[in-house]
Amino acid sequence: MAVVASIRRQVQLCIGKVGLPVGSLVYVRQGRRENSALAYDEDWLASTARFNVSADLQLMAGHQSHKAASLHDSVFHGAIADTAPDAWGRRVIARDHAKRRKGDPQLPALTEMDYLLAVDDFSRVGALRLRDPDGTWQRTTTDGQRSTPPLIELERVFLASRAVERGDETAEDLRYLQGKGTSLGGMRPKCTLIDEDGRLAIGKFPSVGDARSVTRGEVLALKLAALAGIDAAPARIVLLGEVPVAVIGRFDRDQADGRIPYQSAASLLQASREDDRSYTEIADAIRANGYAPAQDVRQLWRRLVFNLLITNVDDHLQNHGFLHVAHGQWRLAPAFDINPFPDKERESKTWLSEQDGPITDVGMLLARAAYFGLDQAQARAVLAEVHAAVANWRQVALSAEVGLRQVELDDFAPAFEHEQMAQVDSLLR
Ligand SMILES: Nc1ncnc2c1ncn2[C@@H]1O[C@H](COP(=O)(O)OP(=O)(O)OP(=O)(O)O)[C@@H](O)[C@H]1O
Ligand SMILES: [Mg+2]
Repeated sequence: MAVVASIRRQVQLCIGKVGLPVGSLVYVRQGRRENSALAYDEDWLASTARFNVSADLQLMAGHQSHKAASLHDSVFHGAIADTAPDAWGRRVIARDHAKRRKGDPQLPALTEMDYLLAVDDFSRVGALRLRDPDGTWQRTTTDGQRSTPPLIELERVFLASRAVERGDETAEDLRYLQGKGTSLGGMRPKCTLIDEDGRLAIGKFPSVGDARSVTRGEVLALKLAALAGIDAAPARIVLLGEVPVAVIGRFDRDQADGRIPYQSAASLLQASREDDRSYTEIADAIRANGYAPAQDVRQLWRRLVFNLLITNVDDHLQNHGFLHVAHGQWRLAPAFDINPFPDKERESKTWLSEQDGPITDVGMLLARAAYFGLDQAQARAVLAEVHAAVANWRQVALSAEVGLRQVELDDFAPAFEHEQMAQVDSLLR
């Protein structure tokens, strides 16, 4: 009988800018079976700073194990998985590995732990950090902080990203990209960068297959969100020659580069990617774990109205996040990854409630407003504010900071001008 190869790797889980130890994380793979386990350190459990870093863990001693609930889920606990590279980052890492394997056929296949550790420590999302037993932060590039490029180097990152998308990248392109914090979650080509003010930001590039200016569309959506009373990540377009890059400020770092703990709604709800989960469950989780629950559930309802009216239908649970305030209490993170989808049906991915199903019209939202702490008069006031902001989309789109051209507006119009806008308009009369 063949011996099943087994792999075991242990790292230290730490938190924050100073890297306070939190626990130890073990990854085990035996044949095709994989799992991970986290054990909080006694010192962390006794510390006044202690809190439960991920909703699927408990603040207690002993190993707490985790395995993937489905093929599409992570082997790691929710908040740790939130720091792992998703599609785009994995693509860069896997391509680099495949190239190196050609030169060195003995190189073992990548494990989920390798992907997790391939993320740049400097730009890893949230406050969780991983350290090898020998004390090395994972992953640290040779020149540390300087591996995150300043705005001025963005063109090189973009050209290398383009090459990866086309499949004609060089080994240097990949090595360069891997140091550049490309390993954030998500599908689209992007990197982290240091903005002109010295703060960490995300640069999102146009993708080879884009039929419209997706990056300007995202900046437009984030600006409209702010006008609609939504706390949204700050965004602007930076031109690389003709190429519009969306530069979005990171909300998980403070003024002094401190790291703010983060977990996605998927983590907070302990959701599998295969389940249909709903906003009323997010509201329940906010009530159970929130620092300012009354405000946040109302803010959530406002975002639901906004998403419907701009046809942002990519509202999966990784696209909603929470930032830790203190003592295990969390606040809704600023809105991010919101985009108008003019070519899609207006139907949310996350359901309104288990009974209601996906959000398709404003009537459903009004009927459930009370669950989010709004009476009908308050809900109508929110509708009026969001409607007014969205109705102004053409003007914002043409503004210098978004920079869409008049001829491009037709590409986006179906996302902003539709029967739901008309419906709100008539409701408000
Ligand atoms: N402004 C921000 N500050 C901090 N973290 C962020 C910010 N924007 C995004 N993130 C983190 O990076 C991840 C990827 O970003 P984003 O969702 O914008 O990318 P995407 O490629 O468009 O994703 P998707 O696969 O959902 O289309 C998010 O899931 C979130 O964890
Ligand atoms: Mg996303």
